[in-house]
Amino acid sequence: MKKIKAYINGKWIAGDINYPIYSPEGHEAGTAPALNKEDIDLAFESARSAQREWEAKTIDERVQFMLAFADKLDERADEMAHIMVDEIAKSFNDAKTEVVRTSKLVRDVVAEYLRIYQEEVTFPKLNKDVTIFRKALGVVLAISPFNYPINLSVAKIAPALVSGNTVVFKGATNGTLVGSVLAEIFDELKLPKGVFNFVTGRGREIGSSLYTNKNINAISFTGGERVGKEISDHASMAIQILELGGKDVGIVRADADLDLTASQIVKGGFSYSGQRCTAIKRVFVHSEVKNALLSKVVHQVNRLTVGKAADNNFITHVINKSSADYIMDLVNDAIDKGAKPLTEIKREGNLIWPIVLDKVTPDMRIAWEEQFGPVVPFIEVDSDDLAVELANKSDYGLQSSIFTKDIDKAVEMAHKMEVGSLNINGSSQRGPDTLPFTGVKNSGLNIQGIKYSLETMTRTFNIVVNK
Ligand code: G3H
Repeated sequence: MKKIKAYINGKWIAGDINYPIYSPEGHEAGTAPALNKEDIDLAFESARSAQREWEAKTIDERVQFMLAFADKLDERADEMAHIMVDEIAKSFNDAKTEVVRTSKLVRDVVAEYLRIYQEEVTFPKLNKDVTIFRKALGVVLAISPFNYPINLSVAKIAPALVSGNTVVFKGATNGTLVGSVLAEIFDELKLPKGVFNFVTGRGREIGSSLYTNKNINAISFTGGERVGKEISDHASMAIQILELGGKDVGIVRADADLDLTASQIVKGGFSYSGQRCTAIKRVFVHSEVKNALLSKVVHQVNRLTVGKAADNNFITHVINKSSADYIMDLVNDAIDKGAKPLTEIKREGNLIWPIVLDKVTPDMRIAWEEQFGPVVPFIEVDSDDLAVELANKSDYGLQSSIFTKDIDKAVEMAHKMEVGSLNINGSSQRGPDTLPFTGVKNSGLNIQGIKYSLETMTRTFNIVVNK
């Protein structure tokens, strides 16, 4: 059991009331302080007071803090991975990979910042020399989701801090325990007080005070569509980077390499039990290869290991009961309307065995609603046009994939898809972290990514020398 504290203005806050955080497997993984509105306001005031001085530091000083932070992430990777195994039921290997991916991200953020923080432009005919600086916006609110509690936190925190912003950081309920390690590291590195603040709490105590505070200049949020829209409604003048979810499609043409396609669908649909916004959530497969593809997919799915995260299983418990219930509601709705499960339907608590659904049709909820679970529905199509049309009917538009040997055709289809990224012969994914990550429609607003987050969390400032 890990009992954590919040961290505001360089002080650890135990809180009068603490709330339990339950592992997806059912036991209590730890507790966190239930902060109130006054605590949250103090966090923002501290961030505001610290900001000018932090931005006034030399770039090298800020860079050295961030590089030391990256080193500490590597040093504590095993410890953080063990917390994630317990707190979010991510397998140890995947959890450690996440931390290592994140220390690299920090170093890449630093390198990119050093590349873009200052640009010289001369206008010889106008006799002007211009220096374009990138200045901090002020205070950044970073809110991360449960599924990448380190990577998707640091993807927000690192660009904010290196460019001279200060941060108020809140993790998801599950993800808070491991998130507290970030505060421990900044405390150990003696980051000036108020530059990084880590807040905890339950929605009913904090309410909207987290994202309506007048000190916020930018909000970087990854999470559910409902909360994202609520944040957006209240954001006022704050810049927003919102990453809200998806219903990514895998379109399989008749000429696809079916072995490769099956492997990518299994990896894309079932990694971390389907709890990724970039997971393949629907497969539109051409009629003539449907049965051949399904038999390859089912063969691979039946070999996936299922069980506890601590035993490094591929399929582990989904995050909580309401998520598990929702997943099964959609599966049952589909089966009631005629879908055919090709794998055993089995659930124990929050552990759901991987489900492949055949004969899914557009009148079923699972064809449209985003469930965060190990379920991949297959919808038969008889033309590329129909596949693209159905894909674009979604309220989401994060990523999608097209599997085919005809790359020219895939590129032609790609340009018709309403998504932020289209993968040819590969499953959807956010990485490498240097890529711009964005979606259209309900999938989000603005762009996350090393260069793109740095640009969004800074403003340009010109000094023009007239000669
Ligand atoms: O859940 C949303 C994440 O941004 C997905 O990231 O593609 O690296 O799994 P990923």
